[in-house]
Amino acid sequence: MTRRIRKAVFPVAGLGTRFLPATKTVPKEMLPIIDRPLIQYAVDEAIEAGCDTLVFVTNRYKHAVADYFDKAYELEQKLEKSGKREQLDLIRNVLPPGVRAVFVTQAEALGLGHAVLCAKPIVGDEPFAVLLPDDLIWNRGPGALKQMADLAEARGSSVIAVQDVPREQTGSYGIVATESFADRSGRIRGIVEKPSPETAPSTLAVVGRYVLDPRIFDLLESTRPGAGGEIQLTDAIAQLLDEQAVDAYRFQGTRFDCGTHIGLIEATIRYALDHEKLSDAASQLMQNALSELGVIESQ
Ligand code: G1P
Repeated sequence: MTRRIRKAVFPVAGLGTRFLPATKTVPKEMLPIIDRPLIQYAVDEAIEAGCDTLVFVTNRYKHAVADYFDKAYELEQKLEKSGKREQLDLIRNVLPPGVRAVFVTQAEALGLGHAVLCAKPIVGDEPFAVLLPDDLIWNRGPGALKQMADLAEARGSSVIAVQDVPREQTGSYGIVATESFADRSGRIRGIVEKPSPETAPSTLAVVGRYVLDPRIFDLLESTRPGAGGEIQLTDAIAQLLDEQAVDAYRFQGTRFDCGTHIGLIEATIRYALDHEKLSDAASQLMQNALSELGVIESQ
């Protein structure tokens, strides 16, 4: 695998039950951090990494995601007429020129591996990325996927993002066993989906960014349901290890688990504190709130 990735797959067919009632009508990928939905952060990361074809694996309830990436003629006309250039650029740049969005339906929620397999007819026979928009990765320098794409290209391997987690959390992640790390990466020797803390081979957890060889599609086709009764991407990667090099990569950046309430709050705080216009006000009101609630002494 030596070619540069051009295609990115976004599995967005999940029900998002953790965020009910909001997700009764708003897909979880459309929940905003400040003024951009989660999916936009993942899309921007993929484009920065060099992708020009974005494959959204969606379901029949997720019209909002397709609508979001569609051209909004009426709104554009209104903004143009009233001279609101800045806002016009914002909505036009949801997808920059030269980048196309393709939507594929996952008719049944059979698991992440199955969702990725649904993208096979679009991706074809070339290396590609998978991004799970719930995992938001903040970094001042190059995005996590760009870092991984560079490594994958240099090594000719598949690359999976990892981070260290407390042992009691292994049951929430894919967990890898690796050879020793040099710099930020280490060759993966084993991978298992959501092992208990007692059986986990390490505490190195898979984060939702993957650069994969297309061979994964053939392997997914014969992958049987695994953890949670779902067709797991992790299980197909375990097969891939027998045939090809797969590297774990400790990316530079901070990952927020926006699939949980606290992760979404944490991300909102971080992006607010780092925001060029909002940071001072955000920091002040956080201090006010903490002192009003008696968490810190008032100054
Ligand atoms: C999925 C993957 C898991 C990975 C995780 C990262 O699990 O199956 O291997 O560690 O994403 O967020 P999920 O969170 O969808 O249950």
